[in-house]
Amino acid sequence: MKLVIVGTGYVGLVTGACFAEFGHSVTCIDKDEKRLEILKSGKCPFFEPGMDELLDKHINKTKLISFKSNIKNNLENSDIIFITVGTPIKRLEEETDLSAVWQVAEEIADNIKKYCLVVTKSTVPVGTTREIKKIILGKVDQKLFDIVSNPEFLREGSAINDFIRPDRVIIGTENKKSENIMKELYRPLFLKETPIVATSIETSEIIKYASNSFLATKIAFINEVADLCEVVGADVQQVAHAMGIDKRIGSKFLNAGPGFGGSCFPKDVKAFASTAKKKNIDLSIINAVNKSNQDRIIKISDKIISNIENKSTICFLGLSFKPNTDDVRDSTSMKIASKLFEKGFNIQCYDPEAMNNAKKENSNLVFFNSAYDACEGASAIIIGTEWNEFRALNFKKISKILKEKIIFDLRNIYTPEDLNELGFKYYGTGK
Ligand code: UDX
Repeated sequence: MKLVIVGTGYVGLVTGACFAEFGHSVTCIDKDEKRLEILKSGKCPFFEPGMDELLDKHINKTKLISFKSNIKNNLENSDIIFITVGTPIKRLEEETDLSAVWQVAEEIADNIKKYCLVVTKSTVPVGTTREIKKIILGKVDQKLFDIVSNPEFLREGSAINDFIRPDRVIIGTENKKSENIMKELYRPLFLKETPIVATSIETSEIIKYASNSFLATKIAFINEVADLCEVVGADVQQVAHAMGIDKRIGSKFLNAGPGFGGSCFPKDVKAFASTAKKKNIDLSIINAVNKSNQDRIIKISDKIISNIENKSTICFLGLSFKPNTDDVRDSTSMKIASKLFEKGFNIQCYDPEAMNNAKKENSNLVFFNSAYDACEGASAIIIGTEWNEFRALNFKKISKILKEKIIFDLRNIYTPEDLNELGFKYYGTGK
């Protein structure tokens, strides 16, 4: 099939590359000329394991992927157009900024030449896909298009695997014709018996928000349990393990830490609650999850500050919002490191991939090229993001370069036993 993907961010580019892997012909559209230059060279503009290889294969070998700077003249023979532009939260109102979506809908309406599907893959509040239909109907006959909701469930750092081996594919349509075209698109997964859930458009849009909000709720829940474990001397990792053995609960997304970050969970819980509020529905649990997660940054920062005597140098390891990504959007590590800087600490940082993005976020942080260099002269180490390379640090070597042997293991990579015998004062999360 011939696909057009509008927006080459974390979602659009992975979607385009993986559909090319399925054998479809893909035209990726992005207004950012600099980004297009990087893409045409076969490079991925962000760190995502496997993307450079996949792009190189489908740009240079199969030639199934091409890049264009605008929609004009690129729709005439497309079967399906995916909207994968950013849908960030508006800073003040805590609601979704859909301006990029409306802009793309207008451009699509101006350029549809033959029957095609217009698919929202960006995470959009319930009702958005139907609004897109209204915009296009203003200029295009209903016979020439159908709208579809097809939300993504890609995790940064494992996005290709999540696309190629999804737990399920959600397809929201208005009719059997568009449902069948989408099933043809996902035929390689259909043949592997991946569950394909065909439903209405609004149901599909809700499934996305409800799924992300529930995962965020699991995280906020175990984080609050961790706070109680700390004061009663229980171990939250053992609590989570024992809970997860119950198949009704499941072990995933029960790792206690500094809270959830990234470009999805924080914005999705806010958008879900604000969309519901407009319909006079109070998602009180989701509101509580959002508040609990926001308050956690202060709680963790205060815990660190109250356990370090003087305003001195701190070694902060891991700045990305999670491992295996260079993304620092809504990163709890960045928020905590910045808060400690504001409180007068000198912050020496290292992250395997995210330092360029971190520098743009906060140039007051001091950046080093290794975990050990960042430890030099520090009064404490904070592990903010659980990169694999932090899982076997040489603490004997670190002992010699630290001023004081204190460690705040926000992600519970180590155990108190591991480090107490080396003379460290160990602070985990929930134990
Ligand atoms: C998430 C959803 O998982 C994905 O399905 C959706 O499409 C996009 O949003 P992502 O934001 O890339 O993916 O990362 P994820 O792995 O879900 O982690 C989100 C945040 O939760 C991170 O800050 C992570 O550190 C935190 N987290 C995750 C925990 O604190 N504990 C956990 O057990 C799991």
